[in-house]
Amino acid sequence: MLTLNNGVQLPEIGFGVFQSAPDETTEAVRLALETGYRHIDTAAVYGNEREVGEGIRASGLDRDEVVVETKVWVSDYGYDQTLHAFEKAIGKLGFDTIDVLILHQPAPDRFEKTLDAYRALERLLADGRVRAIGVSNFMPHHLERLLAETEVVPALNQIELHPYFQQRDVQEADRAAGILDQAWSPIGGITFYPGFREGRRSVLEDPTIVAIAEEHGRTPAQVMLRWHVQQGRNAIPKSTNPGRIRENFAVFDFALTDAQMAALDALDTGFRNGPDPDGADTSRFERVIPEA
Ligand code: A2P
Repeated sequence: MLTLNNGVQLPEIGFGVFQSAPDETTEAVRLALETGYRHIDTAAVYGNEREVGEGIRASGLDRDEVVVETKVWVSDYGYDQTLHAFEKAIGKLGFDTIDVLILHQPAPDRFEKTLDAYRALERLLADGRVRAIGVSNFMPHHLERLLAETEVVPALNQIELHPYFQQRDVQEADRAAGILDQAWSPIGGITFYPGFREGRRSVLEDPTIVAIAEEHGRTPAQVMLRWHVQQGRNAIPKSTNPGRIRENFAVFDFALTDAQMAALDALDTGFRNGPDPDGADTSRFERVIPEA
């Protein structure tokens, strides 16, 4: 179990639902909870918060046994807009509170609104509507400004982080501020999603990772998840496949050696697969998040 900077506890391995179709999400979430996951990460812009809530209710677990994390999309940035985005999110999830609420990414073309959105998260935290707040895809210079101009240090920063893109500068900035690193695409799914694959090498086929996996009788995905766990991060692998949902949680009964950890560390290519948080193309920011 990991402890956030405000004392809230977060399991090392959470369950991701990015690109999980709404009609598959409820069952995937229910099965993940049956498997033992206790943390689900979604986002307003994924369009499946409703199904995440249904999956949690279908599990039969009490609400307080599951850490629910979701993200405010950029089109809802601004103080009042973000307070309303919280209402939309709880309306869809079907819960009164959210455990971890984060900003989906910095919006460099409207950074003042990004800061106002964060101030709304601070308000929700003070009011007990959320238990922890944070950010996603923040680079060191975004963090620097946020820390200088707002009050509450984010509990976590969710970033693209897998062996091929490790963002050590962000990890260092997070560590210095007491912010937990949370890895999205922790098994490098973004290196092999259909449509993303062109010209990219899949981390799952990396010879070093495949060899380490063979030494342990494990899969490459398990090796990568174990690497995150041993480095003290939270990771949120996505799957809608029952076998892979279970596989990704079975990483607590083996350990990588120091040499194997170092071999994984050495795979960083410095190549970002996801959108550049400072990129000029802001068209996707305009996507409207429906009311609950
Ligand atoms: P699927 O949902 O069919 O399992 P990431 O979380 O790093 O972005 O990776 C998600 C992608 O990896 C999805 O395409 C998912 O597809 C696939 N995936 C998830 N778990 C595994 C696994 N254990 N082995 C291979 N592929 C996996």
